[in-house]
Amino acid sequence: MKILNFGSINKDLVYNVEDFVKPGETISSRDYGLYLGGKGLNQSVAISKSGSEVYHAGCINKSDHSIISDLKKWGVNTDYINKIDEATGHAIIQINQDGENSIIIHGGANNCVEKDQIDMVLSNFNEGDYILLQNEINSVNEIIEKAHKKGLRIFFNPAPYSSAVNNYSIEKVNTLIYNETEGQRLSGKKDYNQIIKTLSNKYPNTRQILTLGERGSIYSFDKNTIKVKAESVKTIDSTAAGDTYIGYYISSLSKKVSVKQSMKIASQAASIATTIVGGANSIPEIN
Ligand code: RIB
Repeated sequence: MKILNFGSINKDLVYNVEDFVKPGETISSRDYGLYLGGKGLNQSVAISKSGSEVYHAGCINKSDHSIISDLKKWGVNTDYINKIDEATGHAIIQINQDGENSIIIHGGANNCVEKDQIDMVLSNFNEGDYILLQNEINSVNEIIEKAHKKGLRIFFNPAPYSSAVNNYSIEKVNTLIYNETEGQRLSGKKDYNQIIKTLSNKYPNTRQILTLGERGSIYSFDKNTIKVKAESVKTIDSTAAGDTYIGYYISSLSKKVSVKQSMKIASQAASIATTIVGGANSIPEIN
């Protein structure tokens, strides 16, 4: 069984600020750093750092050789990353005093996935293999449809949420992993019990995991509910914590670890990621 992650790759420009910039305001940052990120890349790095093999597919600018070498250093297979003329995607990230973030992304090369690349990549995977997707590249639904036709087990993280997600074939997804904001937008409900109930009714064949940050995570499928607490840590930067959870969860599951134990491992890794500034670099290595 192989794991494919078809997802984004970003350069993260991270600014430490007292408070997020408000409309009409100009503020100075306390600190600045450039890191590798992107929900896709972070999730691939988490899968690899947790001891599973992962193939990352996506697009970057052809001059960004260091991204490939960094991914290789982290153990991620880069054979399916296309090098193109478009600029690599980037994110402008503000981190406030509480370690919360506020992110603007520019898709760039992430939005240049073409049909040929999708078909070529998927031709290397077979029934039962895992595919992980986020909502940070173009053609996500096309990939869901094609992966489903091939019998791949699809894990989908609808982040960042866009209204297009409501028209995706989520009923073909094996596991939908989302946070509270994404859940609210997907279900139209505020309370998390209502979110889970609404999405379970709408997608009865799809397993769900709702991540609630420091309040833990909840799995729901077919009348089974599993709740796992988060570890209490001093959060410095929550960037990539959700990505770490997803990568670790999928990796553990692929090693036949139970859902509950996979959630616990994922939660532990995610809490460690919040204690370090940055994206992929903040993901811990726990084997
Ligand atoms: O989930 C965190 C990621 O979101 C960052 O690394 C940034 O690139 C954005 O995609």
